[in-house]
Amino acid sequence: DPELVAAGEKVFKKCAACHKVGDGAKNAVGPALNGIVGRPAGTVEGFKYSKPMLDAGAGGLVWTHDELSGYLADPKGYMPKNKMSFAGLKKDSDLEAVIAYLSTFGQ
Ligand code: HEM
Repeated sequence: DPELVAAGEKVFKKCAACHKVGDGAKNAVGPALNGIVGRPAGTVEGFKYSKPMLDAGAGGLVWTHDELSGYLADPKGYMPKNKMSFAGLKKDSDLEAVIAYLSTFGQ
């Protein structure tokens, strides 16, 4: 849905201070997010994750739509002590939109 993706691009402005996505995206304060939908947590090469994020990935967490939705709604509630300093997206429509946007970027 191109309108949802366009809305997600706007929501991503809240993320862009820390995350890059798209051609040539590099790790920054947060990991680069190309290919994040469907990727095991904590596995972007060269990024220094927190222990809880590494443990979650080792334990089998994969960033499906539903897991991303849970994490992005309430990062610290979903994963205590992870190091993403972000309050979370409170609107379901913002969550849906940003996940749709991220899903347009492959590896
Ligand atoms: C981790 C998305 C906002 C900093 C992550 C991960 C995702 C994500 C999916 C897990 C990555 C992985 O497992 O490889 C988003 C989205 C945002 C957002 C969609 C906006 C809605 C932010 C902001 C910051 C930030 C504003 C900085 C203030 C980080 C950091 C991590 C992370 C440092 C690593 C967490 C850890 O290792 O515990 N983010 N993020 N993010 N994000 Fe964000």
